[in-house]
Amino acid sequence: MKLLVATVFTSLAFNASTAQEMTYGQAEYLNSCAVCHGLDGKGDGPLGDELVKRPADLTRLSKNNGGQFPYWRVFAMIDGRTMVPEHGERDMPVWGRQFLPDDVKNYGPNAGEIVTTERIHNLAGYVQTLQR
Ligand code: HEC
Repeated sequence: MKLLVATVFTSLAFNASTAQEMTYGQAEYLNSCAVCHGLDGKGDGPLGDELVKRPADLTRLSKNNGGQFPYWRVFAMIDGRTMVPEHGERDMPVWGRQFLPDDVKNYGPNAGEIVTTERIHNLAGYVQTLQR
């Protein structure tokens, strides 16, 4: 299983990264998140103007949480599958649901879920590096 997962991530990284020095998280962020949250996470991406709610400034999550990065909250927010909407629809896509069908198609139901979870971890880890 370990070997399978390692293989899966190698091929994932190969697909996702455009520049080789990029981490998976950064490549995925630029692909999926920057359009709303902006290249450096300040919430100023081009699609933001079209939304009812402004995309969050992702550079201040630690600052707004007493200096501690709220990792699990960020993870759950990105995944979205466990979140109960407070005020109807959310503007942010439910990434757990977006990633899963392709990952299941490519890697099967069990490994697919693992890959989806790992992609969300990579994203949460990358968002952590954006803190200032
Ligand atoms: C279509 C625009 C859009 C895209 C694409 C998008 N987001 Fe968001 N995001 C939002 C909006 C709007 C909010 C504000 C909260 C809401 O929707 O209720 C938000 C909120 C968040 C939050 C919560 C911040 C907080 O204050 O706790 C995180 C974390 C986040 N986004 C990360 C991401 C990541 C990582 C990606 C890429 C996988 C992403 N977002 C892609 C629009 C977007």
